[in-house]
Amino acid sequence: MNIATDMPYCRLDATRFSPQPALFIVFGASGDLANRKIFPALYDLYLEKQLPDELLMVGAARRNFSTEEFREMLRASCLAHSRHQDEALHTDAWHAFSQRIFYIQNDVTDPQSYEPIRRLVGEQDRSVLEGLDSHIAIPHNILYYLAVTPEFFPVISENLGRMGCGSNASAPGWRRLVVEKPYGKDQRSAASLTEALHKWFEERDIYRIDHYLGKEAVQNLLHFRFANTIFEPVWNRNYIDRIEITVAEQEGIGTRGGYYDGFGAARDMLQNHLTQLLCLTVMEPPATLSPEHIRDEKVKILRAIPDYSPQEILARARRGQYAVGTNVRGELVPDYLNEAKVRPDSTTETFASLTLSVENWRFSGVPITLRTGKALAEKYSEIVLYFKRPPSALFAAQCGDLLAPNSLTVRIQPDEGIWLSFNAKVPGEPAIRANNLRFSYREVADYFPEAYERLILDALSGDSTLFIRADESELAWQVIDKLEAAWASSDPKAAPESGGLLKYQAGISLRNLIAQVREPVLRELVLREGLV
Ligand code: BG6
Repeated sequence: MNIATDMPYCRLDATRFSPQPALFIVFGASGDLANRKIFPALYDLYLEKQLPDELLMVGAARRNFSTEEFREMLRASCLAHSRHQDEALHTDAWHAFSQRIFYIQNDVTDPQSYEPIRRLVGEQDRSVLEGLDSHIAIPHNILYYLAVTPEFFPVISENLGRMGCGSNASAPGWRRLVVEKPYGKDQRSAASLTEALHKWFEERDIYRIDHYLGKEAVQNLLHFRFANTIFEPVWNRNYIDRIEITVAEQEGIGTRGGYYDGFGAARDMLQNHLTQLLCLTVMEPPATLSPEHIRDEKVKILRAIPDYSPQEILARARRGQYAVGTNVRGELVPDYLNEAKVRPDSTTETFASLTLSVENWRFSGVPITLRTGKALAEKYSEIVLYFKRPPSALFAAQCGDLLAPNSLTVRIQPDEGIWLSFNAKVPGEPAIRANNLRFSYREVADYFPEAYERLILDALSGDSTLFIRADESELAWQVIDKLEAAWASSDPKAAPESGGLLKYQAGISLRNLIAQVREPVLRELVLREGLV
């Protein structure tokens, strides 16, 4: 399907939020996140001419780099991870871009080592930035990007705050704090983290990243739902039978055992990415497109998730852990228990599914399944809304369950787009078959920014729509806390519907895994359709 160039085109009011000049200070600047995501995203934004000219980037980390050495390290990673692979483009562009990057040695736990940052932020002291060109001004706006493990969030915020560099200090310009996930490990720790940050930064200046919200197809959910009239009338319990939100991954946990084994699929994925997708799928239209109005609607959804008893939540959830198997590339995947830094008796789940409902006027009673797993045969993320079947007359009377339900798939990755499935006659035969109308984003757009590009621009612009507010994060933890508590007190060897942990073969197809764990909605389908 293609969008003809003469179709109506409306540019939204981009001046409402536009990126402002700032000092962009990255803590953890020699780490993986900074090298693979943050600086390459900044570089791509620079190549797309989206960054404000006056932006200055400062890396802070423990290693003893000179600014030149730091630039050299970033050069390799930015060129490797840039979306632009045209060698010629990089020669001049990299030089100009890198002149705005500097390095400051910093030990996040040592208050003394914040002195250069204080001089830079508080006094615009140019001598802190080695080799800064005399015609470049130091901006008053400061964006602190914490690309460090979460245990250091409070200490960094505290050290900045004590030096008068927080957002609640009276200073010209704004001061924002961008933090990565995981944001807490449960509701209590998330709340105490927020309390620690609030000591020195106002809530409106805290930008909690959920990189799924930066994905184009996720942002499109609001546009798709609220810029059209044809879907909204059927977007409710009268027409929708069930919703499934899936993030399937082929990779196992790789080298992340140390983090993952203490978290598991529910905390790592359900609490944040999948819950955010759920909110955007079922929320009411916001009063306006302002970030707070949108986030208020998401919070209403989280409040409408019932307070399930431990028995109810166990019956609605399933968990699994991968065992030895072969991945799509034909390589051997070890048993999860043999992965590096995983406890040999770990009951951490690498597959989790939870079927819940949102008890509001629009969606009450509609089963909504959130599921995610690692080491599967497929890699994709999508939201599928299954519509109710037609009345049992005419075609449905003859075909019964062979008449497929209509469905609408929001494909988040790969092949971002929207697919509508409907029944039509098979030409030349007295038969009916399901068909798809497919809209593929990649066919209609060349410019496809990475999630981090969008999120960085929004943080520089002061648009917090795609970031998680403290109350959202805590409400999402409430659901996961209940699930974790129920799993912790159930026998991992029990049946899947009683909280048991199913060992599944790495490389299994999601469909087979869902059948093996006897996911609640699928179980009904099995009975109805004899599917597996
Ligand atoms: C991260 C999780 O937040 O998201 C990872 O910690 C997961 O475990 C990743 O693999 C998935 O992101 P994406 O963009 O690759 O779907």
